[in-house]
Amino acid sequence: MHPSRRLFMKSTALATGSALVSPTLAASALKSRGGSRADTIRVGLVGCGGRGTGAAAQALAADKGVVIVALADAFRDRLENCLSNLGKSPDHERVTVPPERQFVGVDAIDQLLPLVDVVLLCSTPSFRPAQLAKSVAAGKHIFCEKPVCVDSVGYRSVRESVAAARERNLSLVSGFCWRSSSPERALVAEVHGGRLGEVVGITATYLTAPLGTRPRQAGWSDFEFQLRNWQHFNWLSGDHLVEQAVHSVDKINWVMGGRHPVKCTALGSRFCREDKPEFGDIYDNFTVIYEYPNGPRATMIARQQANCYNDNTDWITGTKGYAWINGWAPTHWIKDYSGTTLWSYPKDGPTPNMYEVEHETLFKSIRDGRPINEGEFMADSCLMAIMGRMSAYSGRQVSWDDAATGSESLAPASFEGAMPISPAPKPGSAVTGSPLS
Ligand SMILES: NC(=O)c1ccc[n+]([C@@H]2O[C@H](COP(=O)([O-])OP(=O)(O)OC[C@H]3O[C@@H](n4cnc5c(N)ncnc54)[C@H](O)[C@@H]3O)[C@@H](O)[C@H]2O)c1
Repeated sequence: MHPSRRLFMKSTALATGSALVSPTLAASALKSRGGSRADTIRVGLVGCGGRGTGAAAQALAADKGVVIVALADAFRDRLENCLSNLGKSPDHERVTVPPERQFVGVDAIDQLLPLVDVVLLCSTPSFRPAQLAKSVAAGKHIFCEKPVCVDSVGYRSVRESVAAARERNLSLVSGFCWRSSSPERALVAEVHGGRLGEVVGITATYLTAPLGTRPRQAGWSDFEFQLRNWQHFNWLSGDHLVEQAVHSVDKINWVMGGRHPVKCTALGSRFCREDKPEFGDIYDNFTVIYEYPNGPRATMIARQQANCYNDNTDWITGTKGYAWINGWAPTHWIKDYSGTTLWSYPKDGPTPNMYEVEHETLFKSIRDGRPINEGEFMADSCLMAIMGRMSAYSGRQVSWDDAATGSESLAPASFEGAMPISPAPKPGSAVTGSPLS
């Protein structure tokens, strides 16, 4: 593996506008080939871990014309494990990835893109802005896992890519999977339809256990060690508020109709994480209060601590009533202030697998020649989480504009040699790279 920093260069591929090529699989091309669903769609996966393997299987299930033709990962063992697992899927006959289409290294996406019509971006979040820019520049339809950026510079790059994808009629489907869940969709439609009156507050929780780690092995460089434990390093994951709880931040953004919070105030700390290198530099708890124009507030509480109460719920308060979402239970209802149920998701209502729905949506949009672009909310929800982290780390209020226009870029100057692990930030101290002075 030859780690390079190229992936982090601002808007990498979009900056080379002359390199833009036509989308490889426009609907018109499908029609000229008969428009049959049997037409092959060549799909490549970038990031062959747990989620990437799942996304590839869901792509295969969503459209009988999908063939997984290429895989790319930073590490060969991850790629081979993925290939082996896909070989056991019901659709394994449509997985044709010979050694010459297996690409290894942090820039492996470069070799994969020319071979595919659709790319599934499922590697670590830090690489996503550049990988998205490259995919759009290469004219590919995209499934893009969350989070899509971990800092201000990445956010702006993603917004540029999203705009370019729209201009080029490329489909861009986001991995914010709750937006594809039927009960959540039905409840949010009720809220947007006015069932609660005006939304004045939201309390969202993402309380869960720490994620797994991979203790250092002989022969690993600092870079490999950190990349193997990417969830625990801020520069790679954005911290757990951005990496994991961003699902709930996205639901806040969804319920609020995509309006931007003006500012946020956040607390956070690293209190329970073991003091081992594989636990990196991230916090284990956050509380963020987002303030919206004219009064509404949303509170996000996130925790990754072992042996504690776990919860993933959203409590939405309106002028006429309140709503409750528990996607894990699952429970979805709306009541008025006398306790009368105004609405609830029917017990026998449809609950298709939201991860499968994402891919059905993507491939249908490609087949129908009606590109779907979920990029704006995908980027904005990530920026909301990023501004929460900035506020918690610094101990200051952070405005939307601070976060959106700031200079924060978390990528290290080099992936080679020693990459010391910084102590978790202390609120009230200066934060390097923060837009806040
Ligand atoms: N939507 C969801 O519910 C959901 C669930 C889990 C994970 N995710 C997201 O999916 C992404 C992947 O998570 P995961 O759980 O699969 O992690 P993982 O560690 O299992 O897989 C990530 C893979 O990406 C590879 N990788 C790292 N850098 C790369 C690069 N530059 N090019 C190619 N490959 C690279 C890693 O080697 C690894 O195999 C993350 O962004 C995560 O937040 C989403």
